[in-house]
Amino acid sequence: MNLLFIGDVVGSPGRDMVKEYLPKLKEKYHPHFTIINGENAAAGKGITEKIYREFLMYGAQAVTLGNHAWDNKEIFEFIDNAKNMVRPANFPEGTPGKGLAFFKVNDLEIAVINLQGRTFMAPLDCPFRKADELVEIARARTPFIFVDFHAEVTSEKQAMGWYLDGRVSAVVGTHTHVQTADSRVLPGGTGYLSDVGMTGPYDGILGVEKELVLKRFLTSLPVRFEVPKTGRNQLSAVYIELDRKNGFSKKLERILINDDQPWYS
Ligand SMILES: [Fe+2]
Repeated sequence: MNLLFIGDVVGSPGRDMVKEYLPKLKEKYHPHFTIINGENAAAGKGITEKIYREFLMYGAQAVTLGNHAWDNKEIFEFIDNAKNMVRPANFPEGTPGKGLAFFKVNDLEIAVINLQGRTFMAPLDCPFRKADELVEIARARTPFIFVDFHAEVTSEKQAMGWYLDGRVSAVVGTHTHVQTADSRVLPGGTGYLSDVGMTGPYDGILGVEKELVLKRFLTSLPVRFEVPKTGRNQLSAVYIELDRKNGFSKKLERILINDDQPWYS
């Protein structure tokens, strides 16, 4: 089974990139299953039902979230019916939505797990212990298990990769919006990438209008962040080939599409 995971889609520039390039990526890589992290998809903060449905229409089968999951209040109206949406599993008991979902892929099944880190982030339940719990449930049904670990620091992400090595198909990080160059298959067979990177404005700062971010750094005054409406965009993703026999990763290929790394079709 082959997977395509598109990293943190930011606002309409990110959505436009998904719309334009997802069909091309599908033509080139033929993924059996496509996942999009969409926690910044609505103007940089949260996601709406319309955007969630657009992602499915463009060809994704699962949409993962993160710390901005609740920023657009509309989510509370549709998350419980959004069966292709997965939010961090280590939010407190009783949080709407789910952190583990199963999807049929022909005669196979894949489990998608979303977890959130705790270092320099909100104090949630332990993502490692939550991973133990969910991986055990998932492994009882399928060896194909994808983990989106939404976390700030590379140490916590690497720790999760090693912790789950030999137990899941892949652990891929999100949230920091900069693609890391450390994709590998760990010795136990788990594919790993610290961060898949961001899909959205190429000339901003992590997808935000750069002047606004600079203003905050230079003045320490509160500044409302906005996604640039014009300018160059990029897409960040990773393609992962899984062994049909055991669910482990065979290879990972990082994908970056922008003006400096053009797409040739
Ligand atoms: Fe995030």
